[in-house]
Amino acid sequence: MPVRTADMVEKVRASRVWRSVFRSGTGNSTLHRALAIQQNIFLHLFATKVRKRMVRFSATWYLGTLTLGTFLILIITGILLMLYYHPSVPQAYADMKDLQFVVSSVHRWSAQLMVFLVFAHMFKVFYRGAYRTPREFNWVIGVVLLIITLLLSYTGYLLPWDQLAFWAITVGSNLSSAVPLVGNKIHFLLLGGNQVNANALLRFYVLHCVVLPLAAILFIAVHFWRIRKDSGLYVQQSEPRTKQAKDPARATTEVK
Ligand code: HEM
Repeated sequence: MPVRTADMVEKVRASRVWRSVFRSGTGNSTLHRALAIQQNIFLHLFATKVRKRMVRFSATWYLGTLTLGTFLILIITGILLMLYYHPSVPQAYADMKDLQFVVSSVHRWSAQLMVFLVFAHMFKVFYRGAYRTPREFNWVIGVVLLIITLLLSYTGYLLPWDQLAFWAITVGSNLSSAVPLVGNKIHFLLLGGNQVNANALLRFYVLHCVVLPLAAILFIAVHFWRIRKDSGLYVQQSEPRTKQAKDPARATTEVK
């Protein structure tokens, strides 16, 4: 008798090994589905139930999701670039020249797209009024994500080590000296000295490839967890519609 795939899947799911990892059981009921989300370390950041109106394209234009998409592309292409690029003065420019026709272009375009999308997402959230109570905290987390996104772009700018990068970072880092009292210290800390040189290149590399991406991942996780805690995505309350009953005294109100 041929073995059916569904039976095999069911058998695996009922096995002791599977149950030791996924503890929500094998049923298809609403409870089982909710448990599957709640008991998974990644999925539990998301809500167990969503309203259809929340996930319609018109609600968010999926701009936050698209921002996340570009971020994932940047992580993948960034890891590939790290396999070939050397953050050292003699090699950085030559490495970029070698790489610029392949991964580097996808990385660069995705970075520009991410900056555009993050702003578009922010404006869409603002336009819908989705920043209001109880979502103020998530708005603040969003602002942190915006700053991290811009810092990622800024630190990545130096890595090609060409003329444009060198002078743009020289001008940009000089701006930090203008901060009252601690300006010079920030400038020194950022560049690892007083000039844009090998130390600065290494610092920007570490910030760009390790510190800022980890911070972004952390805050994105908090961002998603907050959406769940704020009862899912914001949906505009429609006006209560009055159903005209035969007996006007028994008119019912219906909220969609
Ligand atoms: C790396 C940057 C960001 C990522 C990956 C991200 C991701 C997301 C995603 C996936 C959603 C679900 C709705 C959707 O798909 O649009 C969302 C919602 C939200 N985001 Fe972002 N976001 C980012 C930056 C921001 C910024 C800059 C702000 C505002 C300053 C912001 C504020 C919010 C708020 C308030 C919500 C909840 C909206 C609602 O309830 O309808 N986010 N974000």
